[in-house]
Amino acid sequence: MRHLFASLIDETPVGDEALRASLERAIWVLSDDDTAGNDWCEAEGYPGYTSYASLDDLPQRFPEFAALKKLLDKAAAAFAKALHWDMDGLALELDALWVNVLGEGGHHTGHIHPGSVISGTYYVCVPDGAGRLKFEDPRLPMLMAAPQLLEDAPEAARRFVYVTPAEGHCLLWESWLRHEVMPNAAEEARISVSFNYAVRRRP
Ligand SMILES: [Fe+2]
Repeated sequence: MRHLFASLIDETPVGDEALRASLERAIWVLSDDDTAGNDWCEAEGYPGYTSYASLDDLPQRFPEFAALKKLLDKAAAAFAKALHWDMDGLALELDALWVNVLGEGGHHTGHIHPGSVISGTYYVCVPDGAGRLKFEDPRLPMLMAAPQLLEDAPEAARRFVYVTPAEGHCLLWESWLRHEVMPNAAEEARISVSFNYAVRRRP
């Protein structure tokens, strides 16, 4: 039996507790100060705060985010290696990086990250009951008449896989992989930093 066309999901610790704690502080400052972001969240019914639509230069604004970017660059390069990409003449470039503060009940419906190659999330605060990340088999629209899976089907054969995030860790996947943030059952906020990497030709 051959297992072909595997989808890789990488989980890796990033930085130390000091970095995680300083990011948490910076994000609370941001969520207080970013008026444009808060206006957007209110207009769109976002259940908490995100900088997604308002700020695209967090690594330039905060040294904590600059430090995080440096570590994420490394993690993304290692992921490209695990995917066996030929990066000769090419470079991975952080295309977007934004914070998410999801309040109680907050969730994010299924989506992909178009226009980039590697996406991921670094987890700042994951209280007990915080929403898991649900990944979806990209072949789902083609399964057609296939029966349901047996209860004991292994993770690699499943059509949906739920991953519980760990504080201080980052998850990486290819940007086409559909995912969903399940509702946050914790009273405390679920705080994360999401990002996209694109491929650029080296000058
Ligand atoms: Fe996402």
